[in-house]
Amino acid sequence: MQRLSGKTAIVTGSSYGIGRGVAMLLAEEGANVVVNYSKSEERAQSAVSEIKEQGSEALAVKADVSQSDEVRKLINVCVERFGRLDILVNNAGILPFGSIEEITDEILDRVFRVNFYGTFYCCREAVPVMKKQRYGKIVNISSIAAKRGDNTTAACYGSSKGAQSVLTKSLARQLGPFGINVNAVAPHAIITPMIDYWDQKKRDEMKERIPVRRLGTPRDVAVAVLFLVSDEADFITGQIINVNGGYLMDS
Ligand SMILES: NC(=O)c1ccc[n+]([C@@H]2O[C@H](COP(=O)([O-])OP(=O)(O)OC[C@H]3O[C@@H](n4cnc5c(N)ncnc54)[C@H](O)[C@@H]3O)[C@@H](O)[C@H]2O)c1
Repeated sequence: MQRLSGKTAIVTGSSYGIGRGVAMLLAEEGANVVVNYSKSEERAQSAVSEIKEQGSEALAVKADVSQSDEVRKLINVCVERFGRLDILVNNAGILPFGSIEEITDEILDRVFRVNFYGTFYCCREAVPVMKKQRYGKIVNISSIAAKRGDNTTAACYGSSKGAQSVLTKSLARQLGPFGINVNAVAPHAIITPMIDYWDQKKRDEMKERIPVRRLGTPRDVAVAVLFLVSDEADFITGQIINVNGGYLMDS
């Protein structure tokens, strides 16, 4: 039996990378999926076709999550088309590089606007719909950097994800009474365009440092998201689950 039949999901930034993997798995489990994208329409349409081939409904909706008016439209289009919104996965994110001296106001602003404001805006628009349903599952895609700080990436990336972690916990506390669960998944070393900058040497070294001795795939993240949005996870909220092959183990 499919675990999400009759449910509707929005996955931000799901034309490629982890978001696409999540969109595909939720659809495989029977959810209708809104594939959000900001630039790559062709890839978003190909994700929609792939989902439809699996027998679920899907819709590609363009929206830059850093813009509140575009996020409002994204949520409205979903509710108009499917009549509800059960699952929101805040996946869209960007990764900047550079020392603190190199991070301009514009870069800092952009990173927080996409990674933190984007999550905030999507939750702000989705929550009234979910409250009315007295049902909702929100999963934010965090990062290992939110837990242990940035190593080679710009210090503002982990900070933006850290802010998102606190938002995850705050919303979990405030929305639990309305039947809405809010969790996050913190990946590391997942093979997507985001880690294209890792050369073969870095990939091989990383594999050696990961207990399960491989890099992760979008599917590895998607299965954790699927669990958190399923009814089996009703008693789990405010958690930030590591998906990193054991690279970071925290309590
Ligand atoms: N790949 C990893 O190892 C890794 C590790 C830790 C955290 N993450 C997080 O996972 C999430 C997905 O990352 P990924 O590896 O798939 O990266 P990616 O660069 O491959 O994909 C990012 C996605 O976000 C979308 N996006 C970017 N800005 C957007 C905006 N303003 N509005 C809407 N969509 C936007 C892109 O179009 C793309 O679909 C991100 O939040 C990232 O920070 C990834």
